Amino acid sequence: MKEWTREERYRVLQGADDILGLYESIKESDYRQTYHLQPITGLSSDPNGFVYHKGVWHLFYQWCPWGAVHGLKYWYHTASKDLVHWKNCGVGIYPDSFYDNKGVHSGSGFSTGDDLYLFYTGNHRDEDWVRTPYTCVAKLEDSGELIKAPQPLFGPHENYTEHQRDPKVVYDEETQKYYILLGAQSKDLKGKVLIYSSDSLLEGWTFVGELRVPGFEDLGGMWECPSIERISGKDVLVFSPQYTTLPNRNQSTNHNIYLLGKMDYKNLTFTAEGNYRHLDYGFDFYAAQFAANNGDPDRAVLTAWMGLPDNHYPTEAEDWEGSLTLPRELRLVNNRLLQRPVPGLASLREKAVVLDEELPRVCELEVSNHQGQDFELKLFSKKDGSGGFCISYDSQTKLCTVDRSQMDQHFNAELGECLTVPLEDGLTKLAVYIDKSSVEIFINDGQVTFTSHLYPTKQEAYYSASSHLDLQAWLLKPAVTDDFVI
Ligand code: FRU
Repeated sequence: MKEWTREERYRVLQGADDILGLYESIKESDYRQTYHLQPITGLSSDPNGFVYHKGVWHLFYQWCPWGAVHGLKYWYHTASKDLVHWKNCGVGIYPDSFYDNKGVHSGSGFSTGDDLYLFYTGNHRDEDWVRTPYTCVAKLEDSGELIKAPQPLFGPHENYTEHQRDPKVVYDEETQKYYILLGAQSKDLKGKVLIYSSDSLLEGWTFVGELRVPGFEDLGGMWECPSIERISGKDVLVFSPQYTTLPNRNQSTNHNIYLLGKMDYKNLTFTAEGNYRHLDYGFDFYAAQFAANNGDPDRAVLTAWMGLPDNHYPTEAEDWEGSLTLPRELRLVNNRLLQRPVPGLASLREKAVVLDEELPRVCELEVSNHQGQDFELKLFSKKDGSGGFCISYDSQTKLCTVDRSQMDQHFNAELGECLTVPLEDGLTKLAVYIDKSSVEIFINDGQVTFTSHLYPTKQEAYYSASSHLDLQAWLLKPAVTDDFVI
């Protein structure tokens, strides 16, 4: 693993030439995704500023140009008309002001219909490396020009630690006010959401208090990337708690969960119905964000970083890592949250293929386990049947186990290479989306999902499945352009 100095990580990008060579070599990697967003060079992490505006979906990602390392962060801009085909638009926000001198950190977008605003955390550090987080806003003009407001909307609140970031902006019809939800850490090191409100998007923001989430006060030491949406009259609060372990997540201390319930902006209380659930049970899923202004009260659209803080991936050796998950559509059915890839994704199906022994590197599988029986499905095993990414189901315990320990390339093994997913209703169906370095699994029409990076070697090219499983497969067309646009 390469050791980076602070100077290297925080080097300022002077122009496209700085990274053209890097881009040219990374482009050749066998692990470049074909229908998932990924960094043009270096590292991509959280989705940012996901918003629908004037017929276009805008989606940015946290970007560090230099390599697979968390350093000076930019927002890199991508756009799509259908949430399936994406094009690179170049750097969205540069860390070029006093307030964001050491990074433009995560945040959200908001469209007024006419204007598009991006709210982000300016990560300021002084010479002694003392951090001050600012909540900032910029306007993205139709021409693509970005205009930063000269002053931040507000600075840090003195009652909390330096960890105050990731503004999510919403408008509440009931109180007729705008709100910013901010991920934060209290001085006694507990995860919090802070709330600011205003009558106007661009000024007058005041701190109104800490969000009460009764029953979940002790869930971790920092809540990153809060996001909230109303789906069919219910509120869904999503956040990424850290510094704690949770059931079904092995040794990982970074998680992404959701609560269903009621958000009361007047009383600053989120009343949850029942316990939290993991938004995804896989190894690599974090910092999920809802798209703003999606325009349909019965569905939400969400994407996440396919990766976790402090994790390392094999493409680090090629000076890049990370990807965003497929954008998902979330609906409430019988009071359960169901997640599935956006319906337009079906347009990528090239042709149905009858699977022989070999498994295509880019494909979609539909797997039916009609009777809910035990099964084993191995992806990317070797010709003799050994190894592979193994998905198995035990109908007695209603547990699905996903084991990547038999693959040739091991990564983040110390956090556990095998995860178990509890399934209340058994397991009858899987939809599996395989790209060059990832797999996303939607179980039982999206009651539960599982996302993992995966780096098969040349000899890991086969599959096997219990004979009672019904398998259909499609090759998928590419949907990201991967062009060099700065
Ligand atoms: C989550 C996070 C955010 C922060 C950003 C910095 O992965 O730590 O809280 O804004 O990444 O890149």
